Amino acid sequence: MHCFDYIPISIATLMPSSSLGLDLYQVELETENYVLYRGGDYPLTLDDLERLRSRGVEHLFISRESQASYKDYLREIATSKDKEDISLAVRTEAVTEVVRQILQEAFAGESTDQTVDAASQLGKLTADILTNDQFAVKDMLKVLHHDYATFTHSANVAFYCGMLASELGFSPKVVEDITSGGLLHDLGKLEIRDELLRKPGRLTELEFREIRMHPILGFKKLAHREDLVEGQLMMTYQHHERLDGKGYPVGCIEDDIHPWAKICSVVDVYEALTSNRPYRKAMPRKKALQIMEREIGSAFDPELFRCWQSIIEQS
Ligand SMILES: [Fe+2]
Repeated sequence: MHCFDYIPISIATLMPSSSLGLDLYQVELETENYVLYRGGDYPLTLDDLERLRSRGVEHLFISRESQASYKDYLREIATSKDKEDISLAVRTEAVTEVVRQILQEAFAGESTDQTVDAASQLGKLTADILTNDQFAVKDMLKVLHHDYATFTHSANVAFYCGMLASELGFSPKVVEDITSGGLLHDLGKLEIRDELLRKPGRLTELEFREIRMHPILGFKKLAHREDLVEGQLMMTYQHHERLDGKGYPVGCIEDDIHPWAKICSVVDVYEALTSNRPYRKAMPRKKALQIMEREIGSAFDPELFRCWQSIIEQS
């Protein structure tokens, strides 16, 4: 096999004493050859893992053909109901890895089909995790990254939407749909020039107008799809609307804004404030909530905001 027949996997996702069922390889330093480290039938022990870590090894390799089984393995760990058997570190790592894979596929793919498919996978995964009370919201918050990239922002917004929806008492299926809607909310940004999205200075009026097109662009991309529900489309179309009618693209008010879009609006602004941006550093949670509080009733739905506030304050 050639080197491109192997793919790296993080050893942090490996559980001691349970058989992965996949052959694990290592790169031999002198020859740069891939050599079998452990056959699929022999589980790694805690000692093995510690020895690898002490040598500074963070990755082992699996053959490309076994990539699908590795994905299944990760998914199982990420959503497993048996907390006892799986350490939080391994589970957190598995969740991060699964999400990363899903997002990479989604945002690298040209086709909206792939993105929508990935969004629904992420929705399922998140709903599974959220309805499994073993995995606390606190753990979820730890998993999230806060760098600036449209896809990181979208992933965080997706999780946040799921958390808020779940706290509001929506059924697991609705939590799933709202989560995948969250991943898609900024889809229209993929059609906007990157340098504009990353521009550090002030935007001109014209540039603003261009960016403000993204809800419409996203909506147009998704509107004809039968695998999405109305609420998800509205999350894309209306997540920048405000209760007082000063939002965009339409400027509609209160009850004309879909409840799922209102959820998206609260967590979208929260995410934007608490993540690093090209023009400013991430804001502490408390400060972000204080700033948002001033806009209760004008931008944000009071009940939704209070609920989000209590989730963040408790975690
Ligand atoms: Fe947006």
